[in-house]
Amino acid sequence: MSHAEDNPSSRRDFLFYATGGVGAVATGAAAWPLINQMNPSADVQAASTLRVDIAGVEVGTQLTVLFLGKPVFIRHRTQEEIDEALAVDLGDLIDDDARNANLPDGGDGSDPNRTLPPFGDAPDTGEWLVMQGVCTHLGCVPLGDGAGDYGGWFCPCHGSHYDTSGRIRRGPAPENLPVPHAAFVDEITILLGEQEA
Ligand code: FES
Repeated sequence: MSHAEDNPSSRRDFLFYATGGVGAVATGAAAWPLINQMNPSADVQAASTLRVDIAGVEVGTQLTVLFLGKPVFIRHRTQEEIDEALAVDLGDLIDDDARNANLPDGGDGSDPNRTLPPFGDAPDTGEWLVMQGVCTHLGCVPLGDGAGDYGGWFCPCHGSHYDTSGRIRRGPAPENLPVPHAAFVDEITILLGEQEA
């Protein structure tokens, strides 16, 4: 069960609670109506930031939230997924660009350039990956949880395969799944959207 409510600390920030069973909310075109029903109301969608509680997102599962009208995947990757992503030769990438809004100067498509840095001084394990769940071909919502030939996401609309870093590896999609503005604001909360200066 999930619900959202106004965050009393800020007019612009909202909190999305995730509890057990987030894996069931997971991903995919077929699941989209369910995700829509479980997501924040229209006023929350219109907000410019969204706070997401990820305490209940187990390793190997993914939470999908709706933010600014688009699904955002928050994946808690396994060590195997991380290792696979790190092992990829950048020369094999179709799109060698980080596509990460948090890197204003750009960057290559290496896995560390796409993952979310941890809060504070915690070691950067690369376990959190946050991406817009919108195929860069024609905008379908890719299937997740290891789907496709590269163990990441698969878009069933026209057959685009994304790896465990959300990078396009095969199919008509031209770009990696985009990483939106996101940051940990404490150990269990990810803020989506641009923070005020
Ligand atoms: S919309 Fe995803 S492959 Fe065409």
